Amino acid sequence: MSTEPAGIPHHIAIVMDGNGRWAKRRFMPRLAGHRQGVESLRRCVRACVARGVRVLTVFAFSSENWNRPQDEVSGLMELMGKALVREVPQLSQDGVRLCFVGDRASLSAGMRGALEQAEAATAANQRLTLNVCFNYGGRWDIAQAAASLAARGEPITESSLHGAMGMAHVPDPDLLIRTGGEKRISNFLLWQAAYSELYFSDRLWPDFDEAALDEAIADYAGRERRFGQTSEQLQSAQQPPLRA
Ligand code: FPP
Repeated sequence: MSTEPAGIPHHIAIVMDGNGRWAKRRFMPRLAGHRQGVESLRRCVRACVARGVRVLTVFAFSSENWNRPQDEVSGLMELMGKALVREVPQLSQDGVRLCFVGDRASLSAGMRGALEQAEAATAANQRLTLNVCFNYGGRWDIAQAAASLAARGEPITESSLHGAMGMAHVPDPDLLIRTGGEKRISNFLLWQAAYSELYFSDRLWPDFDEAALDEAIADYAGRERRFGQTSEQLQSAQQPPLRA
């Protein structure tokens, strides 16, 4: 059952792209862009809470991001560690539950511990679930779900695969936003975005403010979601039943 206000997506997913270009335009190091990206994420989380969005999923570090220059990778890891320590108390106060989705096996023991701690500290919060996709790839998620079902000797069906994936605890995203001007999915939520409405913004992620979020939501609210049906079928389903 839907619990969000009319026209507000229950679940928004975001590819937060453009931090590097934001920094470059200011002659700053790429990491300064990522730092500003964290500020933008904080603002976006609060805006989602205020608007009644129930789930926000963000792509913070992809399986492919390990291929970036070593100092950027270590800078992103450090940024995540520090952001967790700094943000968790306020997130908790705002009723935000943190969940990390992705392959934890190749993270350091310290980072794994920090993620677990943040999840445990916010587990009871109910206003907004914030999924942070970290060392995540859509293909990895499908493959690990299939492998875990196979290892347990369970049949591989749409429903069992869905249940074995990292996002099994939330419904699929209604609205998928990508900032930074590129129009691609980049291995994000490949399974779960099957029926998501896609929205591409030219704004760089650090510049994606509340007004930009509201524009995306207004655009979403004007869409007709047909899930494979026809417009006419949807309209007749909305009519009150005819009385004999
Ligand atoms: C893409 O911008 C962004 C990322 C790879 C990282 C996103 C991370 C954050 C917003 C910070 C929150 C996450 C952590 C880890 C604390 P880009 O660098 O590809 O930008 P560009 O396309 O302009 O180069």
